[in-house]
Amino acid sequence: MHSKKLIVGNLKMHGRLKWNEDMLTALLTKIGKINNLDIALCLPFPYLWRAQSILSGTNIAWGSQNVSQYEDGAFTGSISSYMVAEFGCRYATIGHSKRRALTSENFQSAANRFTQALKANLTPIFCVGEKEGEREKGNAKAVVESQVRALLGSLDPQMLELMFKNKAVFAYEPAWAIGTENFAKPKAANEMHEMIRKIIAEKNSEYAKQVKIIYGGSMTPDNAEALLTMDNIDGGLVGRCSIDPSAFSQICETANQLKCGETS
Ligand code: PGA
Repeated sequence: MHSKKLIVGNLKMHGRLKWNEDMLTALLTKIGKINNLDIALCLPFPYLWRAQSILSGTNIAWGSQNVSQYEDGAFTGSISSYMVAEFGCRYATIGHSKRRALTSENFQSAANRFTQALKANLTPIFCVGEKEGEREKGNAKAVVESQVRALLGSLDPQMLELMFKNKAVFAYEPAWAIGTENFAKPKAANEMHEMIRKIIAEKNSEYAKQVKIIYGGSMTPDNAEALLTMDNIDGGLVGRCSIDPSAFSQICETANQLKCGETS
């Protein structure tokens, strides 16, 4: 299980074209030579073409923050996985809790988006996590378990194969930790990741050993090491700190010292 960690920046709806260009260029200067880490940035759709021209051939991959649950057709305002794949995307985040809170997305549509991403040969990053109230009631594990089982249960054998082949990533992002000052306690997050890994092992034990299960929710340069040294935390999904090239680079430098499945 000693593969590279994965750090993904979720740029959300920040910046304009020039800002994006400057940010990508600054990141290349800071972390363009790191080689013991997988790095990706999930950008707003309009800037994917720019990521493609600036990041092609570098150690930083890019992706979209969502894809449609449909392949093609009369879906005004939607963008398909095949479209983003044409701009060199490797990743697509799917089912982010903020999207579920702000739009009509639910787990069924997230599972459909996940399938669409796989079909277009992308690596989906499937987000799961409990809400504050669910955690307060002591239901966090049950909620996350049901989210992972709902996804896996919805995939037919062919899609499961594609999921293994495309190395789909899981992101544990407790909703109460996203965009706040609170991050999950490393030990508690690690237990959640371990549980997710065990559920995946029921489908494919080899894949479960390799699957990257990353943590998201207020990861910063200050807490990255404590989180990333946990043996089931294979990386981070970083929001706020991804829009600050210095903070993002520091998190990447920390992760670059570590490997999956190792505690320091
Ligand atoms: P945050 O965002 O790092 O700002 O909490 C994480 C995310 O939304 O993926």
